Amino acid sequence: MRIDIITLLPELLESPFRHSILKRAQEKGRLEVVVHDLRQFGLGKHHQLDDYAFGGGAGMVMMVEPIAQCIESLQAERRYDEVIYMSPDGDLFNQPMANRLSLKDNLILLCGHYKGVDERVREHFITMEISIGDYVLSGGELAAAVVVDAIGRLIPGVLNDESSALLDSFQDDLVAPPVYTRPADFRGWKVPEVLLSGNFPQIEEWRLEQSILRTRQRRPNLLDEE
Ligand code: ADE
Repeated sequence: MRIDIITLLPELLESPFRHSILKRAQEKGRLEVVVHDLRQFGLGKHHQLDDYAFGGGAGMVMMVEPIAQCIESLQAERRYDEVIYMSPDGDLFNQPMANRLSLKDNLILLCGHYKGVDERVREHFITMEISIGDYVLSGGELAAAVVVDAIGRLIPGVLNDESSALLDSFQDDLVAPPVYTRPADFRGWKVPEVLLSGNFPQIEEWRLEQSILRTRQRRPNLLDEE
C-alpha cells in the first residue's frame, strides 16, 4: 500500500512513521508513506497557499489551485482508491473503517489548516472525509498520523503474529481483556490463577468473559450497536 500525505507542515510528520511497526511495514515493502510539502505548489514568488475568505470572516482559507495541482500530479502517476480530507466534520474514524482502508492500494490524505480548504477541493477532489474525534486539532497532520498508524499495522504481512491484530480491542466489538506478565506476584498483587494454569481452553474462556465484562463496564455502546 502507498499513502501520500499532503501537508503544509511536513516536519510534523517526520517522526511518526519511523518507528516500531510502521517502520517494519515500510522495511518489508508492505507500506510506503510519502509526505508532500504543499508549499512546493504555492502560488507566485511567496508560494502562497491561503487567502481571505470571500464574504469576510476571521481566518484564512487554503486555496484550491495549489491543492488541485498537487493532487493531479499524484493522480497522473497512479490510480488512487480514495482522496481523503482530514477534517473535524468528517466521518468518525473507527476500527471497521481502518480495516476497510487497510485493503486499499493507494490513498491520498490531505491535511487541512486554518479555516479549512476552499469548498471546491471537497467537491471536486475529495472522495472521503475523516475525523478522528469530536474535537478540533490545529491541523490534520496528527489526525493523518493516527489514521496511517491504525491502517498500517493491519496491512497483511505487517504484524509478525497475524492473529494479534484480530484480537485487538474493537475487532469483534469487544474491548481487549486484561493482560499480565512476570512477576506472578508483585507486592502481593497476584496474577489471576487461571492464566498460570496452562489450561488454554479455560484461559480463552476467561479472556472472553473479561472482554465482555469490560465492554459492558467501559463501552456499553459497543454491545448496543448490533
Ligand atoms: N483536523 C482538525 N481537527 C481534526 C479532527 N478531529 N480529525 C481530523 N482532522 C482534523
